[in-house]
Amino acid sequence: MPARNKLKAVLVGVGPGASTLVTPEAREIISRAEIILGWDMDLLPVRDCVAGKKVFLQDVRNYVQATRAAVREAKRTRKLLAVPRVGDPCLSSGLKGLMRALVGFEVQIHPGISSVQLAAAYACINLDESAIISFHDLGDPEEKKRYMLDCFRKGRHVITLASPDLRPGPMAKWLIQQGAPADTDALVGSALSLPEQTIVRTQLFRLVGREFPWLSVTVVINPGAPSLDQDHRLWCQWHNRNNPKQARRRR
Ligand SMILES: C[S@@+](CC[C@H](N)C(=O)[O-])C[C@H]1O[C@@H](n2cnc3c(N)ncnc32)[C@H](O)[C@@H]1O
Repeated sequence: MPARNKLKAVLVGVGPGASTLVTPEAREIISRAEIILGWDMDLLPVRDCVAGKKVFLQDVRNYVQATRAAVREAKRTRKLLAVPRVGDPCLSSGLKGLMRALVGFEVQIHPGISSVQLAAAYACINLDESAIISFHDLGDPEEKKRYMLDCFRKGRHVITLASPDLRPGPMAKWLIQQGAPADTDALVGSALSLPEQTIVRTQLFRLVGREFPWLSVTVVINPGAPSLDQDHRLWCQWHNRNNPKQARRRR
């Protein structure tokens, strides 16, 4: 009896929206797949590769049913299922739910450029000095707000993914009410990489009362994060510890 094909699925990051930010490999995987599961926004940057395939389109009302239907189809036909996700699939993209739905599949994740990376680049900050908080995902928004404040108080930059329920304006207002300095620098990137992109560089208090689309990432730039001088000092300490001979010669 011929061996049956393994069940295979690939979660593919397609970048923040522009087709130019889709990696050639992501495009290749999606072109190879025969079954596609995604939201309208996930398919936008790869529309050209999706044409002619069996597409299970997700929306707010049917996303669970659409997932089940795509999984059933992949099991029945044993064809490759691709799940394009805007940005990176490991960031606020329902990864755990997908992994649960894909039990029995060999699952691969192909990373993509996240909106968070783009926003950090515009804000000129280190991601490893930042806390990333998604208000888009499930979970208790109040607890997330407290975590955000805690990270800010500990000297981290804060990068938040907006949601229809918590946009940059109310978030800034809440942070100020909790004692964050009103003149803290902030950046809001909306519709990043898309033709309607806007970048607002301002201060926290100027975000209050201002309207932003939910497709926005906010960076609150923490003045307490290590400065260039501190970075240099730390680098010298590390270097001297690891190269004691050179350090002695320099003294
Ligand atoms: C469901 S999450 C997906 C995040 C995505 N996986 C990523 O890596 O960027 C949707 C949220 O991501 C952010 N987002 C995604 N694409 C964006 C873009 N092009 N411009 C600004 N924000 C974006 C917004 O905060 C939006 O509410």
